[in-house]
Amino acid sequence: MKTINFVASIVAALGAAINQASANENVEDIFKNNCASCHGAQLQGAMAGSLLDTQWITDGSDKALANAIKNGLLDRGMPAFGHALTEQTIRTLVVYIRETSYNADTAKLKTPTLNKQFKTNRHNVNTQEVLSTKGIIWALDFLPDGSLIYTLRQGELWHVDDKGNRTHIKNTPKVWHRGQGGMLDVLPDPDYQKNGWIYLSYSKKTGKDKAGRDIGITAIVRGKIKNGKWTEQQTLFEAPKHTHKNRGWHFGSRFTIDGEYLYFTNGDEGHQDDAQDLTTQNGKVHRIYKDGRIPKDNPFYNKKDSLKTIWTYGNRNPQGLVKHPKTNQIWSTEHGPRGGDELNLISKGVNYGWPKTTFGMNYDGSPITPHTDLPGMQLPVHQWTPSIAVAGMNFYTGSQFKHWQGDLFVGSLAKKQLHRIRFKGNQVIEDEIILKGLGRIRDVVTAPSGELFITVNDRNSNTSKIVALSAQK
Ligand code: HEC
Repeated sequence: MKTINFVASIVAALGAAINQASANENVEDIFKNNCASCHGAQLQGAMAGSLLDTQWITDGSDKALANAIKNGLLDRGMPAFGHALTEQTIRTLVVYIRETSYNADTAKLKTPTLNKQFKTNRHNVNTQEVLSTKGIIWALDFLPDGSLIYTLRQGELWHVDDKGNRTHIKNTPKVWHRGQGGMLDVLPDPDYQKNGWIYLSYSKKTGKDKAGRDIGITAIVRGKIKNGKWTEQQTLFEAPKHTHKNRGWHFGSRFTIDGEYLYFTNGDEGHQDDAQDLTTQNGKVHRIYKDGRIPKDNPFYNKKDSLKTIWTYGNRNPQGLVKHPKTNQIWSTEHGPRGGDELNLISKGVNYGWPKTTFGMNYDGSPITPHTDLPGMQLPVHQWTPSIAVAGMNFYTGSQFKHWQGDLFVGSLAKKQLHRIRFKGNQVIEDEIILKGLGRIRDVVTAPSGELFITVNDRNSNTSKIVALSAQK
């Protein structure tokens, strides 16, 4: 394809009146009424020190900051708020400090110019536009012949051949394009050359609730592309009818394949308590065979009333799912509420805690829970507060970026960032923002050429680009 080939070359008032916080009060008001007189309205520091600069008297951990707020640092002039504020409100203050500090810090990052070189810690990088289209590209991937396939959320599947010719694939399933729903993930079978299977996820309208409002589900199918048409479709997963209640949110729906198994995510559909309920598909990672059969060794296969497809639970809305190229571990990124986006290592039968544990708070700044950690629930390997809105991701396995080998690249919607994550074993030792500001990054994939392809979307103009990152020699 023309484009892809082209790219290849391409404090004081110690007795300060402490305001009793009411349950609905949001964190901004609590801070303004209790803290701003000493720490400054923007947390920038006044009589007391700045809460933005990450220069801490305590050890700076979430626990230490919460403890300082609860018990005070009396010899330093920090009053104790433990009798006035609940544990969970104190938790929201910690989230708020993290959020404000991060935002002040990242506001300084420059947006790279397309088609110009920019620097990162380990590589100088070129960006090159591959293609531009109306609509929101939700997912992209490569077929073995080097050609590209991508989905448009409005309900379309596209193929781009090696000469850059684009084909709209006809006869794909009719999607329910509402809220966060539409045509979602696409993934070719690892044995595509032999079997031609392509896996698709989409939101499907299935009826009306008691109030007469449209409801739907996340549907998983596979099919083949023949002569520009979607054919031989097989339905692999549709949740049982009595569970249908999604009104347009948290469909999840990324997938990844490991051997004969197809893993896919189903968000909590906006019903957060469902994530702890094994009788619903919501807030789970599921495992089925590639042909839709259910493996008998799934963790809740024999548990009465549980959905047999469930592999893990307590997941809010995972929209990144990928298999590690060497260890075959399954990793997922999951959207937190306000704060607490997660990177999780997905293991059989594990409870990831949502909504009983989270590093975040409600969007209006009210608390969800004081707990980031509880017995029997798994902590994330890594978390982002504030939320960057984590989306698609990919382990870099190409030949071009010698110093990025095996690193995980994670796209972000709200913060418009691309993160490079380096692991030592299962621990994150680096989290670098590679680029910021080009647009909402929903998917990332390593191209056969060794370039890193990302999808960049501008919500206001309803347009998307596929952008290639190449190594500057
Ligand atoms: C009467 C003034 C005063 C008020 C009111 C106050 N602080 Fe402080 N705070 C201090 C002082 C003084 C320190 C010690 C360090 C410094 O000077 O920054 C401190 C330290 C802290 C620390 C520990 C920082 C570190 O370096 O480890 C946190 C967190 C904190 N305050 C949060 C809050 C929050 C949240 C509120 C409101 C609920 C609040 N403070 C209200 C004066 C105040």
